[in-house]
Amino acid sequence: MKKNFLNLGRQPLANSFLVSNSKKTLSKEFFYNLNISFDTSSYLVSVANPVNPKYQYTDKYAHRASESITMRKAFAKIAKKLNQKYSPKIIMEIGSNDGVFIKNFKKDKVIAIEPCKNLADLTKKKYKTYPNFWNKKLANKIFLKSQKADIIFSANTISHIPNLKETFDAIEFSLSKNGVLVIEDPSLYSVIKNISYDQFYDEHVYVFSALSLSNVIRSSGLRLFDSEKLDTHGGSMRYYICKDSATHKQTRKLDIIIKNEKKAKLDKLSTYIHFSKQVKKSKDELIRIFKKLKNKKKTIISYGATYKSSTIFNYCKIGKKLIDYVTDTTLNKQGKFTPGQHISIISPEIGMNNKVDYAFLGAWNFKKEILAKEKEFLRRGGKFITHVPFPKIISK
Ligand code: TYD
Repeated sequence: MKKNFLNLGRQPLANSFLVSNSKKTLSKEFFYNLNISFDTSSYLVSVANPVNPKYQYTDKYAHRASESITMRKAFAKIAKKLNQKYSPKIIMEIGSNDGVFIKNFKKDKVIAIEPCKNLADLTKKKYKTYPNFWNKKLANKIFLKSQKADIIFSANTISHIPNLKETFDAIEFSLSKNGVLVIEDPSLYSVIKNISYDQFYDEHVYVFSALSLSNVIRSSGLRLFDSEKLDTHGGSMRYYICKDSATHKQTRKLDIIIKNEKKAKLDKLSTYIHFSKQVKKSKDELIRIFKKLKNKKKTIISYGATYKSSTIFNYCKIGKKLIDYVTDTTLNKQGKFTPGQHISIISPEIGMNNKVDYAFLGAWNFKKEILAKEKEFLRRGGKFITHVPFPKIISK
C-alpha cells in the first residue's frame, strides 16, 4: 500500500527556467503538488502523482551532463570499466543527454536513446540516436530483427520514468542472453542519511534502494546481481542487472548493501515518517539562517541553478527577498529566472564578485569541486551556506 509521508508543497517543474519574469510569462507557469510516498509492499519511494513526461523532456531541456568535469571523468571511468569487463559488441544508452557517456565508445557499437530533441540533435550526426522515449514500441523497432544489446547503460534516467514495468519489460527484451543493464540513480540511503530532501522533484519519480529495485524488476524477469556506491549527484548507486537466466552471480558487495539498507530500516514506514520530521526542522533552520543574514544586509547568492535547489526554494519559500541572484555556468540557464521563485540567473564570472558575502550551495553535490574553485572567495572572507546534512555555514 502507498503511504504519503512528505508534502513538499506547491512546486513548479524543476527544469522550467523562465525566459522572462513578465506577468504574462509568470501567469502561465505550471505548478503541481509534490507529495512523496512509500510503498509498504515493494519498499519503493516515489512521487505520489508524477507529472506527464511530455511536459518535462522537451526540446528546451536545460541539463548538459558534459558541463561538469566530475561527471565527464565519472562517465569515462565507467565506460572503460564496462569495456574491459564485458567487451560489449552493442551498447545502448537510455537517456544519452549530450553524449558524455557514449563518446567513450566506437560509433558503430552505440545506440543512443534521448527524447529531448535539442540533446538528441547533439549526438545524431555521429551516433545512431533515437529521439524518442524508451518503451516497448521503440525496443521492438530497434531489436526485433537486430543483434541485442550486451550493455544497456542508463544514468539518472530510469528513476525519471513513471512506467517502470514497461521500462524493464522493454529492457529484458533488448538484452542479449548474458547482457547487463547498468543503471545509476540517486541513492535513497544517502537521501535519508543526508536529509537531502531536494533529491525529490518532478523528474525524480523514484528514489531507489537496492531493496525496492530488486522487487520491481522481478516481474520483468530480471534480477540484481551487483551494486556499488558512487559519490556523484550527492550519493548515488550503480546497479548491475541481468536476465533471470543469465550466468552472473550475486556478489558479496550486493549482500552487504542490502544488509545495510535493512539495518537503516529502508523497508519500514516509520523511517520515512521520522525523515519527514527532520526535513521540517531542516527547512526551519535554513529559513532562520537566511533571514538572520539578510537582516544584517548581507549579499546572499545561490551557486548553481540546480533542479534540486528548485525544491528547496519553493518548499522553504526562499525567494528574491533573501537571494540576490543565482550563478550558473550553463549558458542556456543564464539570463533566465528560477522556476517558482523567479530569481535571476547570471554567469559566475559576473556573479561571483567581491560584494558577495554568502553563497548557498545549490550544487552541493559538487561541493569539493566548487570549494577548490572558489578558494579566493573563501580567502577574502566569503562563506558558503549548505543544508546538507543540516543547515550550516562553511568558512575556510
Ligand atoms: P546538477 O548536478 O545536474 O544538479 P540538478 O540535477 O539538481 O540540477 O547541476 C549542477 C548545476 O550547477 C549545473 O547547472 C551547473 C552548475 N554548476 C556551476 O554553476 N558551477 C560549478 O562549479 C559546478 C560544478 C556546477
